[in-house]
Amino acid sequence: MHVALIGASGQLGSDLLPRLQAAGHDVVPLRHAEIEITDGTKVAEVLTPLPLDLVINAAAYNLVDRAEDEPDVAYSVNAFGPRNLARLCEAHGWRLLHLSTDYVFGGAPDPPAQPWTESDVPQPCGGYAISKLAGEHFVQAECSRHFVVRTCGLYGLAALRGAGKGNFVETMLRLGHERRQLRVVDDQRCTPTATADLADALVRLIATDAFGLYHATNSGSLTWCEFAREIFRLANLPVEVAPITTAEFGAKALRPAFSVLDGRKLASVIGGPLPDWHEALARYLDSRDTFV
Ligand SMILES: NC(=O)c1ccc[n+]([C@@H]2O[C@H](COP(=O)([O-])OP(=O)(O)OC[C@H]3O[C@@H](n4cnc5c(N)ncnc54)[C@H](OP(=O)(O)O)[C@@H]3O)[C@@H](O)[C@H]2O)c1
Repeated sequence: MHVALIGASGQLGSDLLPRLQAAGHDVVPLRHAEIEITDGTKVAEVLTPLPLDLVINAAAYNLVDRAEDEPDVAYSVNAFGPRNLARLCEAHGWRLLHLSTDYVFGGAPDPPAQPWTESDVPQPCGGYAISKLAGEHFVQAECSRHFVVRTCGLYGLAALRGAGKGNFVETMLRLGHERRQLRVVDDQRCTPTATADLADALVRLIATDAFGLYHATNSGSLTWCEFAREIFRLANLPVEVAPITTAEFGAKALRPAFSVLDGRKLASVIGGPLPDWHEALARYLDSRDTFV
């Protein structure tokens, strides 16, 4: 397929590019300097001359706390950006793959502790989450051949060269070299996900015509405190991690207490689940050592 990859220098975009190429796709990678998704005219100027079958939108405004102060910027990138892309894709008969977030699930699942499925009703709990949910709705409403894929807590090697806002693993490793004791939130359960694994899954998904909404994370679930402990154990860093509550941490934006996503729908389409989070983390830390 002929593919335009928007957000090509971000964490996910950087892992998608080589995998798309390895799968035989002809890819035009587009960095922020080359396309501004909030500007519908510019988007059309960049994309219309290309021979395309599929547009992938891996670009986003991901600053969850800052979105509380500048919701208009978040909406512009996360809602109106995808709307621009969806309209253009529909007009040209292109497919659109768009990424969204587990943060659309800010409520409590019923029954408790059941991973959220694609048919559960979102209840976003902050400006970032609302802007991403609006983006999903625009894509679903305006582009008939869409894949909307919700994921969680991404970490990819591109963060090592400054892509995006960084990631939790890199933040922990940096802090772990500076301090012997850390306090990490232990009352948010989700599934941090390696962009390498997500990219593999997306390459398999776009090979199908099974358009629609999907949940895609590594398998299993954990708290950020548990994740931090495993990062330090695998990295051989002697850091004591004390559990704290979300309220004690005091971030500006609300975050879901439970945003574990049920990935069975995607697994049935692409032939299996994404790897377990332990395995993904270990592989990331190994590849990071080679990358550095
Ligand atoms: N990161 C997470 O933890 C997480 C969790 C759940 C879902 N997601 C979703 O997964 C997707 C990929 O995330 P990621 O972590 O790979 O993101 P990322 O590393 O932050 O990369 C996003 C890319 O988008 C570019 N970009 C930002 N605004 C843009 C605009 N207006 N027009 C064009 N390009 C723009 C950025 O360029 P500049 O940096 O140069 O501005 C950056 O290269 C996003 O949809 C995100 O919302 C991420």
